[in-house]
Amino acid sequence: MELYLDTADIAAVKRLNRILPIQGVTTNPSIVAKERRPVFDVLSELQDILGDKGQLFAQTMGNTAEQMIEDAQKLRNHIKTIVVKVPVTGEGLVAIKELTKLGIPTLGTAVYGAGQGLLSALAGAKYVAPYVNRVDAQGGDGIGMVCELQQLLELHAPDSMVLAASFRTPRQALDCLLAGCESVTLPVDVAELFIADPAVNAAIEKFESDWKGAFGSTKL
Ligand code: E4P
Repeated sequence: MELYLDTADIAAVKRLNRILPIQGVTTNPSIVAKERRPVFDVLSELQDILGDKGQLFAQTMGNTAEQMIEDAQKLRNHIKTIVVKVPVTGEGLVAIKELTKLGIPTLGTAVYGAGQGLLSALAGAKYVAPYVNRVDAQGGDGIGMVCELQQLLELHAPDSMVLAASFRTPRQALDCLLAGCESVTLPVDVAELFIADPAVNAAIEKFESDWKGAFGSTKL
């Protein structure tokens, strides 16, 4: 499976890239806007931290297929291995088909339904990103959507991969992985929750106090 961080926070990526087995970083316009710095500077720094093998994702901003294709080419000119995120609208599907013909890898994003996600895969998107928590937050069933999308891709678009996104809890991400998703992208706070159970620290403190009780300051 592939694990990504969903952030453009340079300090957080540096810290978590050291700790977690991540394949790369996903961004979107809202995430990059939080940094209040030129977009291409932020993307270059992220790619530098990830190194040659790390996969970076960035999103188009245009509303027409032509603008999206132009944005994609700008992104790829700047970072040659970047995967281009394209919102799955009608125009987005036109752009994904064209970018696929040009050999530019894409991710279909802003996916709120399994059928919508399937169409982006059939258009050629390498990754499809269903928005789990946003669907839950509007009263839908985010995990249910991901299960359907996963099955649809396995049956009809096996060259595409679900990259589940939009999480508020580790449980949501685990449920996606249990549904067979091959990749997830986690916001920093959710990634940190996986290793932040207070019971873990309590267990380690008990090991230390038992050791000190028996051996004092002697090391292993
Ligand atoms: C992924 O493609 C999206 O950019 C992102 O995960 C959306 O997450 P949010 O709902 O936390 O903004």
